[in-house]
Amino acid sequence: MTQRRPLVAGNWKMHGLRKNLSEVSAICAAVAEGIAGDAEVLICPPATLLIAAARICEGSKVALGGQHCHEEPSGPFTGDLSAEMLKDAGATYVILGHSERRSGHHEGNHSVHEKTLGALRAGLTAIVCVGETKSEREAGDALRLVGSQLIGSIPKSASSESLVIAYEPVWAIGTGLTPTPEDIAEMHHFIRVQVNDILPGQGAALRILYGGSVKPGNAAKLLLVKDVDGALVGGASLNSSEFMGIAGIYREFVRTT
Ligand code: PGA
Repeated sequence: MTQRRPLVAGNWKMHGLRKNLSEVSAICAAVAEGIAGDAEVLICPPATLLIAAARICEGSKVALGGQHCHEEPSGPFTGDLSAEMLKDAGATYVILGHSERRSGHHEGNHSVHEKTLGALRAGLTAIVCVGETKSEREAGDALRLVGSQLIGSIPKSASSESLVIAYEPVWAIGTGLTPTPEDIAEMHHFIRVQVNDILPGQGAALRILYGGSVKPGNAAKLLLVKDVDGALVGGASLNSSEFMGIAGIYREFVRTT
């Protein structure tokens, strides 16, 4: 039996000023109280807040991550940040291939692959996001599309230690819409099998997060599904009580295969 430690990750996106660091303090306090049980709690604030957040999280069990990185370690890339810079600022994770980056910044699978290599080089764990659009799901094309994203985005040098997959149906992000638990179970099982093909032997220990309109009220329904090992949370992660309301479902729960 492989035990996978659940991961509840908050993606703040382009939200948050220094005054919002009080939410980070509140999350650290809640995690210290044991509200998330054994689950790992991760906050991915905007890069401008990473260093200050790292000071707050020092000595706590709360991890920090970036939301994106460039594939190179340094160079003439105005406005970009490298994985090494995120690590230097206190991150241990980085989200890559989020649908907002794929659509808004034209990041294709190859680009996500290169950035994931950058994350591994720097010693960060990459959270690689995959997911279909509404029309792809309606056309019955969701599994094929996600399969091609996995093949194109995951480097052969990754492992279940250095890689987390987040399944985020594009149509569920920020919309209040969610797939059925059955659809989530089907997709997560598919992802585990596919990743095991790409990275032989790594599937069982791989953590696969669900993301898209996760709230405290639907967290148990969406996350206590077979092959779901946590959540990538957008909107609800901006408020510490809502975020911990989601993480709280793991208080007495350990996922096994
Ligand atoms: P949401 O965002 O929880 O606001 O739907 C999820 C995400 O984009 O990671």
